[in-house]
Amino acid sequence: MNPKRYLITAALPYANGPIHIGHLAGCYLPADIYVRYLRAQKRDVKFIGGSDEHGVPITIRAMKEGITPQQVVDKFHALIKESMEQMNISFDIYSRTSNATHHETASAFFKKMYDDGLFEEKETEQYFDEKTNTFLADRYIVGTCPVCANPNAYGDQCEKCGTSLSPEQLINPRSALSDAVPVKKKTKHWYFPLQQYEPWLKEWIVEGHKDWKNNVYGQCKSWLDNGLQSRAMTRDSNWGIKVPLPDAEGKVLYVWFDAPIGYISATKELTEHWADYWCNNDTKLVHFIGKDNIVFHCIIFPSMLKAHGGFVLPDNVPANEFLNIEGEKVSTSRNWAVWVHEYIKDFPGCEDVLRYVLCANAPETKDNDFTWKDFQDRNNSELVSIFGNFVNRTWVLMHKLCAGKVPKLHDDILDDTDKKLIEEIGNAKTTIENLLEEFKIREALFEVIDLARKGNKYMQEKEPWIIAKSTDDSGKPTSNAQKSIDNCMHLCLQLTANLAILIHPFLPGTAKKMLGMMKVVDKILDWENAGKIKLLSTGYSLREPQLLFRKIEDAEINVQVEKLKNGLIKQAVTNNTTKMEENKSSSTASTMKPLIQYDDFAKMDLKVGTIRSAEKVEKADKLLKLEVDLGFETRTIVSGIALHFEPTTIIGKQVIVVANLAPRKMRGIESNGMILMAENAAGKLIFVNPDEATENGSGVS
Ligand code: 2FM
Ligand code: ZN
Repeated sequence: MNPKRYLITAALPYANGPIHIGHLAGCYLPADIYVRYLRAQKRDVKFIGGSDEHGVPITIRAMKEGITPQQVVDKFHALIKESMEQMNISFDIYSRTSNATHHETASAFFKKMYDDGLFEEKETEQYFDEKTNTFLADRYIVGTCPVCANPNAYGDQCEKCGTSLSPEQLINPRSALSDAVPVKKKTKHWYFPLQQYEPWLKEWIVEGHKDWKNNVYGQCKSWLDNGLQSRAMTRDSNWGIKVPLPDAEGKVLYVWFDAPIGYISATKELTEHWADYWCNNDTKLVHFIGKDNIVFHCIIFPSMLKAHGGFVLPDNVPANEFLNIEGEKVSTSRNWAVWVHEYIKDFPGCEDVLRYVLCANAPETKDNDFTWKDFQDRNNSELVSIFGNFVNRTWVLMHKLCAGKVPKLHDDILDDTDKKLIEEIGNAKTTIENLLEEFKIREALFEVIDLARKGNKYMQEKEPWIIAKSTDDSGKPTSNAQKSIDNCMHLCLQLTANLAILIHPFLPGTAKKMLGMMKVVDKILDWENAGKIKLLSTGYSLREPQLLFRKIEDAEINVQVEKLKNGLIKQAVTNNTTKMEENKSSSTASTMKPLIQYDDFAKMDLKVGTIRSAEKVEKADKLLKLEVDLGFETRTIVSGIALHFEPTTIIGKQVIVVANLAPRKMRGIESNGMILMAENAAGKLIFVNPDEATENGSGVS
């Protein structure tokens, strides 16, 4: 029996940056597909989303940019919301946790738990940064991971090996704000004794939810097997929801306490009947998340809901693994990401293509990889050549052979091939709905494409264009030929209508275009209509075909690959500049290399030269190809200075060249030597040259 109501949530993204395609593949797209399917089934469903506007990532970004946390979240909430809309993620509400309803709801939730005596109040010693006067919890503190030795693990998690950490576990901890070595200082916080909920959690998850995905069930079991501990539900900060207690100056709710309550507050904003959804066992609550959020949604938040009482618990938490890009983990700090707002600008009208590729590569059971080549291949050989091709052929032939109208189906001449197709249409509906009910979204999509493939095969077997050549004296197909053509085209048209219904949850924009071609209203998309071959009435005239998908060219893909690589280089330059700015005041002695002997120096052949020509190296943001006149010869030198100088401005400049440096190929160009540059504290490059014009080829010592 189906539940009375569905409450579907998708993890609230931190409003500290734009969203990338990993976010979409991780939870927003699968959640949207599932919700669209439920709506098509006419189930009562609310789809809840919003921005997570508290927590350390936001305050750190604000500090780095010299703006307020409110300015950070205002900017990124708007950008994220827009990207979600453009990608057709059909939230019933996309809210934000900095709003008043949420502050009130989360505060009241905490207060009730406090009044019921559910917290432990503890004073402990925590790391403190004396330079910035900040307690260092979560991402305010970095250090070496005790598990994988990653030197940049955070105080709450190592992003390299995924281990969940506490600041005390970090080796050589340092402040993420100032790099200072932290000291210990006493502070009071309110802890939630998760260990008390362990027996209940074991029964509820380990015994009761064997139906959860393996990755989710496995992670929960391992947390429970290792034993739970009390967790602080408050932090020392002035950004967040104030702890609603009299003796809590400078304390806010832990972001992972308030954020999931955001699902409740957003529902309150959406409807006055919010309690029907949240406080009723007839509701099926499903949280769509990425794998890094499993413990919070399966263990901590359910324990909070249970402790507070009166709320429904999640029925399922389908978490996806991660999506890598071109074989490497997404890294926002290294700018190794495909940003959704940039994709939308670069591929206008191709939102469904991205939805398709991300769904086809969804990291449902393991981390998966997104490559631009695969993006192009899937578009060109699946969307264009299979799905688009079937619909287009059907429409063109229907206009040519059936005068633009739905022809009659002649039951008396249905053959085995026709009957097989009718059966396949019916089976596809059942298969797809079973898969979607089990959150096997990727497989469900493949079934839709497979049905289109079967349509192509059917048409190829029937060859109505050949049948049309059996003509009578008037040059028209004979009546038997026309009947065969009618049957073929009728079934292909009914299949197209079915494809529109079945593809709609995955590619809503495409389904809409198909409705336009069929001249029918949205109502046809009701799921109950799928599987039938009576969707388009005989004699109904249809519009001209519309191009559903266009081919994606090599050049478009090459641009994207270069963009990724260049983004990486630019980010490295920016990071370097920032580091140098941070180090500006530190003594230069700290950047000194170890001493060398005169003989080491004497090995270098330094010569004066003049730059005769300079040009950008194609597809390499950072590199200039220089021709340098050394008096006795002119050398090609490739130099990484393109981000600092316009080529035309350096022609004629004298430089010092390391003339006996072994040749090295860069971007296919052999570089013979290196020019010396000074770099100031802000990372600006300055030429090192004789202070008066000197003959080219002169030695430097
Ligand atoms: O990992 C994240 O991006 C979190 N902001 C997700 C929060 S989900 C929910 F609890 F709000
Ligand atoms: Zn690690």
